[in-house]
Amino acid sequence: MKIKSATFKVSAADVDACPAWAWREFAFVGRSNVGKSSLINMLCGKANLAKVSAMPGKTQLLNFFLMNEAWSLVDLPGYGFAQVTKQRKFGFSELIKDYLEQRENLTGVFVLIDSRLPPQRIDVDFVTWLDASGVPFVLVFTKADKLALGKIQANIGLFFEAVGPWRAVPPEVIVSSSKTGSGRIGILKSIEASLQLV
Ligand code: GTP
Ligand code: MG
Repeated sequence: MKIKSATFKVSAADVDACPAWAWREFAFVGRSNVGKSSLINMLCGKANLAKVSAMPGKTQLLNFFLMNEAWSLVDLPGYGFAQVTKQRKFGFSELIKDYLEQRENLTGVFVLIDSRLPPQRIDVDFVTWLDASGVPFVLVFTKADKLALGKIQANIGLFFEAVGPWRAVPPEVIVSSSKTGSGRIGILKSIEASLQLV
């Protein structure tokens, strides 16, 4: 799939404020600073479409981007950032939970996980919750330019051990880097396949 256009449309502070459109939506979620906004920019081929920051907690709203005038990417706030208010027991906000549970347009979720780290409790809890919820999701291991592939694969293996057994089939895994562009084709293919199913 070629990205012919990518435009920021609207931000929403709650599910009721989400756009009243029929586009299928693909959400990007993960710990603060994991690289969600950078990955969206990499997919879109635009450096500053989604706001990137070295300070965790930059993205605080649901940000909707319209792609190819045909489907939408949604940049979700990061979870697990201590200064963010209204954290739930698992440490992810009502806003993330409400969107994932209630939004009918939601077609797929990309959960971003830092490939440099062994399994982090909050990611394991979040993915366990998401797996039980039945929403289709893909695991994207980010910042792959920072670590040797063998070490990344070891962390992925540990993550699967920490979450499993899976409710149905284990999720698809994509290794990505916003610096090198790796993972871009895999993510776009996954989106294209989901769009053809609906
Ligand atoms: P929040 O909005 O705070 O939840 O963060 P985010 O997940 O959107 O992360 P963001 O894209 O803002 O990136 C956080 C930091 O990580 C920035 O300093 C980025 O430059 C850096 N970063 C993101 N992706 C990569 C990557 O693939 N490789 C490297 N080396 N750095 C990255
Ligand atoms: Mg962000």
